[in-house]
Amino acid sequence: MEIKSIEFKDEVLRLIDQRKLPLVCEVVECKTYREVEFAIRDMIVRGAPAIGAAGAFGVVLAAKEFKHLPKEEFLTELAAANKCIAAARPTAVNLMWAVAKMEGVINANRDLEPDGIYRLLAQEADRIAMEDIAANKAMARWGNEIVPHGATILTHCNTGALATVGYGTALGVIREAHRTGKRIKVYADETRPRLQGARLTAWELVREGIPSTLIPDSVAPTLIRDGKIDLVLVGADRIALNGDTANKIGTYMLSEIARRFAVPFYVVAPVSTIDFAIESGAQIVIEERDKKEVTHVGGEQVAPLEIEVYNPAFDVTPHENITGIITEKGIIRAPFRENILKLKE
Ligand code: MRU
Repeated sequence: MEIKSIEFKDEVLRLIDQRKLPLVCEVVECKTYREVEFAIRDMIVRGAPAIGAAGAFGVVLAAKEFKHLPKEEFLTELAAANKCIAAARPTAVNLMWAVAKMEGVINANRDLEPDGIYRLLAQEADRIAMEDIAANKAMARWGNEIVPHGATILTHCNTGALATVGYGTALGVIREAHRTGKRIKVYADETRPRLQGARLTAWELVREGIPSTLIPDSVAPTLIRDGKIDLVLVGADRIALNGDTANKIGTYMLSEIARRFAVPFYVVAPVSTIDFAIESGAQIVIEERDKKEVTHVGGEQVAPLEIEVYNPAFDVTPHENITGIITEKGIIRAPFRENILKLKE
């Protein structure tokens, strides 16, 4: 059965609680925008495209909450709510992109009554969600073209149906290659410290019946050096104009090793992950998360609490290390700036 990480029905946003997988598959209901903001911040929902769509539904819930107010007040409250939702996590640009799209609808319809704006917002959020699924399926088809028959693929973090509205980005390409009979094998990094690879990617791979092996992150360089990996596929949280790509911490290390041993390294991401406003990765804000994610494992303390911890959630892979960026509009290669600009709508 298809995984539904996000579902909006009867004015309720239902999210699979990704903090609890794979041991428990529980759905959390968000009825207010503040609950949505918390769900994004606390990573009940995570993955760049998924938090973009969740943010858009958060705006719908805010509009529902305030639509009984006089118009000016409605617009003021809604603007404050949008700001709060967009700030829930700082690195994945899909969140800001989705909220900006919703704000575009508000601004273009300021002459309507609150209820009219609310209805249009609900339609826009649905469109964002539907378009994400379509983009993932298109990326999967493009990406499958560069997957050799019998390839062994290394992936990092979780980029599957859970990280998107459906199907997945890098994991979507893997699913497509498997579905089309390419007899692929997958190595999935566990992805310390939050273990998205072990908890989420492994769960999705097992469900799909894709031959896979879970590895500690530090095993990946040895596999690459020993010629055991044909292709690295990762997702992205923000791509700068020059192709520099922020993705889950550990991606940069993989890209360096892949380059050293001439293993193709592809980023798979929709155009909504490109930040056309920034020139390079140096301008990407990298989220730093709670020290407890490092001092504790599964709730158990493993380090002295007095120790200083540095816990960036993402790193930036320089464009020189990237063979290509697989988008729904095709595969982008160097020169990245020139080719990325062609994708701008
Ligand atoms: O901190 P997370 O789990 O939200 O990070 C997710 C990633 O880094 C993914 O690789 C990225 O968002 C792409 S998901 C299709």
